[in-house]
This record gives sequence, structure tokens and C-alpha cells, in this order.
Amino acid sequence: MEKSTDKPAMRSEDEMVAYALETPIALLDYIPELLADLEELGGNAKAIAGVIKALDISESVTVVDLGCGKGAVAVEVAEKLKLRVLGIDLYKPFVEHCKDLAESRGVAELCDFIHGDILKLAGKFKSFDIALFVALGDVLGPLDQTVSVIRQYVKPGGYIVISDGFIRDGGSSDFTGFEQYADHDAMIARLTACGDTLLSETIESNHYGGKDGKLIMARAISIATRRPELAADVLEYAKTQVAEYKYLDDNFVSAIWALQRTH
Ligand SMILES: C[S@@+](CC[C@H](N)C(=O)[O-])C[C@H]1O[C@@H](n2cnc3c(N)ncnc32)[C@H](O)[C@@H]1O
Repeated sequence: MEKSTDKPAMRSEDEMVAYALETPIALLDYIPELLADLEELGGNAKAIAGVIKALDISESVTVVDLGCGKGAVAVEVAEKLKLRVLGIDLYKPFVEHCKDLAESRGVAELCDFIHGDILKLAGKFKSFDIALFVALGDVLGPLDQTVSVIRQYVKPGGYIVISDGFIRDGGSSDFTGFEQYADHDAMIARLTACGDTLLSETIESNHYGGKDGKLIMARAISIATRRPELAADVLEYAKTQVAEYKYLDDNFVSAIWALQRTH
């Protein structure tokens, strides 16, 4: 099934979530089951907490996790750094999962999770000290456009932490959903196009090695057995995820970037 190519603002809520999760809308109800074995949906929670820890911050700073998914990063930041975190996600079952996760990890009093569209909510909050944008890719558009939205959540002088990446030397962007990606220098130019200061870049070696893909495939086979009418879609989804992990290992370099909003 084709992914939507509309501009982010033109997509419906379901289309936006489906785009971010790389699934056809028909499978959205099955996402909690398909991703039941994964807590992190692309981001490395420990590494991101480490990047935040290295910033010059006090204990009273506030954090917003934009597109928090199942809450792995938000809960890690609350637990390890004792910071207040608001997580926002457009997929309601994930918001409920986040609340349960925070409760089970003993940080419910430090965490709030709300259902909402980060594009529509930009500029609607009293600004945060730190905004996280982890593994959402080009959901909000190219990286320069993405940063211009994220900055609206952050005070001047505050921080933006983005987990994304670039095409490795000799790598290809010829994989559905990665057409907008470019090499390191081109991505850094987009990242800093609003005039913010790049404080740090943490390169992560991609070694997905197919583990998450296998877990998703096992869940897909179970759904396909129970619901034969969904078999084609669900198996295609799992196959694409497996292919994407391989594509990432071969072509992509993951990075965590910390920016300081300068004005
Ligand atoms: C690949 S997941 C990453 C989740 C999380 N940051 C992580 O690393 O585990 C992308 C998430 O973005 C959410 N999302 C997509 N578009 C959104 C929007 N406009 N507003 C809020 N959340 C959105 C999806 O529902 C999904 O949970």
C-alpha cells in the first residue's frame, strides 16, 4: 500500500500516525500488537538521556517529548535524570501505554502524557527548556522545516534534541520514506538553517541486525493466521520493516543532535 505523500498539514490524524509508523491505515488498530515486543520505536532512550545529561541544565528544567510513541525516552529521562517530562503523541493507544509505563517505573508524578498533534500544538504551550524529537523522521517535513516547528516549543537559549540521521558515504536514499535524506553535511545545513547552534553530535552505529524485524514478523504471522483477510497487508508491513532495518544497517548513520535555540 502506498504511503501518503501529502504535505504534513494536509494529512488527517490517522494518515499522520500511519505515515510515522509506516503502516497502511487499515492496520492502525493492529499496531499495538505488531509493536508489542518493542518499547523504543526508533530512539535509543539511554543514549538520549546521556545527551541531555551532558547539557548545562539545572534540576528544574522542563522537557517535552514530541511524538513520544510508547514512552521509552520520556520515562527514561524522568527516571534517570529526575526531570519533568510532557509526552505528546497522536496515537491514543500509545498515550495510554505511556501512562502505564510511567506508573510501572515509579515516575508517574514526573510525567504527563497527552494525545495531540505536535504540528497543531506548536506555539500553544508556555515554552519548555528542552524539546525532544526522536525517530519521527520527516513527519513534519524536511529537517529545516521540522526544526522550525520544534523551536516553537522551546525558550530562546533552550535545547532541542533530535534523533535522526544521514546517508552514509556511498549509501543510497533510494528506500521509500528516505528520499529526502542526504549526506552528513547537507543534513547539518538543514538542521542549523534556523540559526541555532549545534552543540553536540552523537553518532550511533546501526546494528539492528534484524532482531526487531523478526519480532514484528512473528506478530504479523500470528495476526495473519487469526485474520486471513488481513494477511496480505500485515505480512507486507512486516516484510517492509525487515527490509528497512537492513536498509538502515547498510546505508544510514543514526545521530543524536543537540541544538541550542539562539534567538
Ligand atoms: C517511530 S515513532 C517514535 C516514537 C518515540 N519517539 C520513540 O523513539 O520510541 C513515531 C511516533 O510519532 C507519532 N506521531 C506522528 N505524527 C505525530 C504528530 N503530528 N503529533 C504527535 N505525534 C505524532 C506517532 O504516533 C508515533 O508514535
